[in-house]
Amino acid sequence: MRLAARFSVFLVLVQHVVGKLVKVDKTPSFDVTLSQVDNTRIKAVVTNTGHDDVTFVHLNFFRDSAPVKKVTIYQNGKLQGLTSEALTMLVAGESLEDEFDIATTSDLSHGGSVTLRSSGLVPLVKGDSVFGYLRYHSNSLTIEIDAVRASQVAKAVVPLMRRANLSCSNSTRKAIMGKALSNTVSLANAAAHAALFGSTTKFSEYFKTTINATRQVVAARLQAVAKEAGSTTSGATTYYCADAYGYCETNVLAYTLPALNLIANCDIYYSYLPAMAGGCHDQDQATTSLHEFTHAPRVYSPGTEDLGYGYVSSTALSSSDAVMNADTYALYANVKRRSSERKFRMLNVSEGKVSSKEG
Ligand SMILES: *[C@@H]1O[C@H](CO)[C@@H](O)[C@H](O)[C@H]1NC(C)=O
Ligand SMILES: *[C@@H]1O[C@H](CO)[C@@H](O)[C@H](O)[C@H]1NC(C)=O
Ligand SMILES: *[C@@H]1O[C@H](CO)[C@@H](O)[C@H](O)[C@H]1NC(C)=O
Ligand SMILES: *[C@@H]1O[C@H](CO)[C@@H](O)[C@H](O)[C@H]1NC(C)=O
Repeated sequence: MRLAARFSVFLVLVQHVVGKLVKVDKTPSFDVTLSQVDNTRIKAVVTNTGHDDVTFVHLNFFRDSAPVKKVTIYQNGKLQGLTSEALTMLVAGESLEDEFDIATTSDLSHGGSVTLRSSGLVPLVKGDSVFGYLRYHSNSLTIEIDAVRASQVAKAVVPLMRRANLSCSNSTRKAIMGKALSNTVSLANAAAHAALFGSTTKFSEYFKTTINATRQVVAARLQAVAKEAGSTTSGATTYYCADAYGYCETNVLAYTLPALNLIANCDIYYSYLPAMAGGCHDQDQATTSLHEFTHAPRVYSPGTEDLGYGYVSSTALSSSDAVMNADTYALYANVKRRSSERKFRMLNVSEGKVSSKEG
């Protein structure tokens, strides 16, 4: 479930945004109504208020009950290999209900007042491909959270445990991950440096602003990611080289359980992704791991959401959403690599600050 609270602010929920927006006047629309069931337990009612039946991708949307943030394969602006298990059909005028607990995806241990709002884009499917996507908005729901009960929920996140072995006993994977994480360190450091000192045009292309405060926040998160990826024996997250908690499914490369600050790679992380992609904005192991690290609140708080995947959708977000969107960091880091390849080997991170040394 992609719904998570930002402290007394709101959250935005956007789906895999690829392809183009469906024209508003000709398409179905969704109404999303959020209500509180009990403390952090929330009910969403999604109603198809248009005239046509619709089929949509529900991964990371309502009805996707896993308390994880997944990153899936997209290529050339398309989700790859859609299967029926990722799709939901909603007849015109009908509703579906989903109940979920926001304490499984957000750190609500401080309690107090939190406002939830869900908006975004859902991919619509015809045949076996996405033909566009649909914007939706929910009501704003302000709730009071009992911190103690919220903490109990977070602790009770039950791993599916389809595979019980949590260790990385596979030496091939261990070696691949060592390389991937060291690439993640380089990418994140280079991108942090670029955010602080690099082209304002490039920064603005991804983060939609050039103000210093935003550049500093982006740099700080990227520095935190570099630090975390660089520490393989200690750190804020646990990173499994296999599907330790059983949330991998078709097309999923890796996932993060934000409540546990836990990241796991799926099999296709190894078989599908190159270590480092040659092309601009292509997915690879290093940027996939970078993407996942930004989700973990203990790396940098608050953890990011998945508000848009891929270049088209990520760069369609507002500035405040871009700063909270995992893939925006991955894409920015990916593009920075190519223009600053010579530079970032010289960069250094110490005590959270990137030195300005350049090659
Ligand atoms: C996990 O894998 C290790 C190494 O292969 C093995 O020694 C251990 O028994 C396994 N544990 C479980 C619970 O399967
Ligand atoms: C180790 O991981 C590699 C890469 O995913 C895989 O091809 C291989 O089958 C794995 N080995 C074992 C023993 O699971
Ligand atoms: C932005 O930060 C840079 C470097 O820290 C500084 O030189 C510049 O004056 C700042 N600009 C504004 C408008 O605060
Ligand atoms: C990076 O910083 C550390 C700690 O300040 C220092 O020991 C190391 O030599 C530096 N490395 C480079 C390449 O500057």
